[in-house]
Amino acid sequence: MPVNLRGRHFLKLLDYTPAEIRYLLDLSREFKHKKLSGEPHRYLAGKNIVLLFEKTSTRTRCSFEVAGMDLGCGVTYLDPGSSQMGKKESIADTARVLGRMYDGIEYRGFAQDTVQALADYAGVPVWNGLTDQFHPTQMLADLLTIEEKLGHLKGVNFTYMGDARNNMGNSLMIACAKMGLNFTACAPKALFPEQWLIDEAKKIAAENGCTVRLTEDVQEGTTNADVIYTDIWVSMGEPDSVWEDRIKLLKPYQVNAKLMANAKPTAIFMHCLPSFHDTKTTVGADIAKKFGITEMEVTDEVFESGQSRVFEEAENRMHAIKAVIYATLSDEPLE
Ligand code: CP
Ligand code: NVA
Repeated sequence: MPVNLRGRHFLKLLDYTPAEIRYLLDLSREFKHKKLSGEPHRYLAGKNIVLLFEKTSTRTRCSFEVAGMDLGCGVTYLDPGSSQMGKKESIADTARVLGRMYDGIEYRGFAQDTVQALADYAGVPVWNGLTDQFHPTQMLADLLTIEEKLGHLKGVNFTYMGDARNNMGNSLMIACAKMGLNFTACAPKALFPEQWLIDEAKKIAAENGCTVRLTEDVQEGTTNADVIYTDIWVSMGEPDSVWEDRIKLLKPYQVNAKLMANAKPTAIFMHCLPSFHDTKTTVGADIAKKFGITEMEVTDEVFESGQSRVFEEAENRMHAIKAVIYATLSDEPLE
């Protein structure tokens, strides 16, 4: 049956079948080709979308803005301080107002329940631009990047290093299980994903001929890896007071040259960004002063190496988000 995503929300990959994810990846590639070859694609002229951000962003905001504008949409951005949402107006009321003005709503914030509530009340597609629990548009960009670089998804050995129970660890585990990649979370036990999600991922992986593994052992977790992926050690919304503990817990899981050498020689390094790989940020400099470390989840050497695909990955956010907007808002399949 042909895939039709018109009118659907995009809240987490758990809601999507492998065939639907495949459709979005293929569509992302088509839009990338159109963008790079300069072929106009203003297929959604006349539509309007709104972007609600309760946390900061560079990639997600810019991707939604550029993707929306390339498709011909009007785009409104609401930053954390400039709407009534949450403070003077409930999520349900905000959703019912915005749903009458806009054709689609993007939300970045804290609870997954908030993006779910927007979806329940808006009457138009709602897209998750990151919550504490999931980051689904990042998943499409990451899968697209892996497929571009390694030529396939099925059977790829994917290792996630670090805070495995944050939005990225959770989402990557599900994304890999859905699309046939062998997922390893290499992390301290205290930072493993929640048990219900691990159980769910294992069930999905079994249906798709791949595996989900969790290990505290860096050697075991990285041997034979095709992809080494990491994320920052303290995520948006977490208090500064967790830094000290997190550094202690995660220092052994830092992606460095020795760790990369344990993966396949053809392995690529990925990161959703932003990344603390030097002290050229205020947070990076502050942490260096307080705790004496100048690189965190990844060393500058690996970040800047030929194995690193992080900027292609960042670019793919825009192509993938364009596919999501188009697939959920368009009346027509792409010619
Ligand atoms: N990867 C990602 O979502 O980046 P931003 O926080 O800059 O949007
Ligand atoms: N885990 C990170 C991801 C940023 C894209 C955070 O939530 O801050």
